[in-house]
Amino acid sequence: MSTPPFHTKGGHGCSSDEEILLQPFNSLLSSPNNNNLSINCTETTTIHHLSHIQRHHVSTLNADVIIRQVPSEGLSFQLWPAATSLFSLLNTHRLHRHLPLHPHRRIRILELGSGTGLVGITAAAILGADVTVTDLPHVIPNLEFNVAANGSIIAANSGTVVAAELTWGDVDQMETIGREYDVIVGSDVVYHDHLYEPLLNTLKFLLVKDEMVFLMAHLKRWKKETVFFRKAKKLFEVDVIHRDEPEDGKRVGVIVYRFVPRQKQLCKASKADF
Ligand SMILES: C[S@@+](CC[C@H](N)C(=O)[O-])C[C@H]1O[C@@H](n2cnc3c(N)ncnc32)[C@H](O)[C@@H]1O
Repeated sequence: MSTPPFHTKGGHGCSSDEEILLQPFNSLLSSPNNNNLSINCTETTTIHHLSHIQRHHVSTLNADVIIRQVPSEGLSFQLWPAATSLFSLLNTHRLHRHLPLHPHRRIRILELGSGTGLVGITAAAILGADVTVTDLPHVIPNLEFNVAANGSIIAANSGTVVAAELTWGDVDQMETIGREYDVIVGSDVVYHDHLYEPLLNTLKFLLVKDEMVFLMAHLKRWKKETVFFRKAKKLFEVDVIHRDEPEDGKRVGVIVYRFVPRQKQLCKASKADF
């Protein structure tokens, strides 16, 4: 697989000169051989490019989640390391204790910047959850392809998945998506600094009930990312709930954070309700 430059699609420019690159993106994208049990194939659906079909084995369900990547289409069409981490935590049930699971109803999950949809689709199958996977408009056809490819495993485990457009900070789209979720998830969604504010605004819109959580898996690449966390900590309590060991030769591994709204955010939200 040739990994595309980071700015190929979606108009997100690369880092400026003063940025300190901790780990280059190309070396961080999942290896094409990692979990890739199938061959490259040419799909005849909406996207007519070379694609990779991967099978990710869910041991507790003894079934596979099937994910299509289309590397030539850009970063949104590839599986990122933090998604693989969340997949692994879901698969081994290590994420469960951080989820507000309800005994009498299905858990509702919203995924931000879903990319290929591996995390949301796996969560629906493993947790029997109602999941909404979201991303920029041009990413939706591949997301829908992956949702459809996993229809059986999702339905067999009483889950549901729908794909929807959600451009961070877009008020109309946020209103359409609503706030009726128990958990928001995201993997590798903090990278370009111009996306920090839109992402935080989206989280500010969504996280308005004290029982709601945002679980974010993140692989640190640039020092500037501390700016995102500094801003996030003004709005949310942010805790580390899991750390992956760094891969060979790397300085850092994927970290999973849990965000919950700070009390003053909840007050603002409840005042806005009146
Ligand atoms: C680095 S990729 C991670 C994809 C996936 N979560 C994963 O871990 O494999 C970042 C994702 O955020 C999405 N994204 C970027 N800017 C966005 C925006 N303004 N609104 C919504 N999604 C955005 C991209 O399309 C992409 O799917």
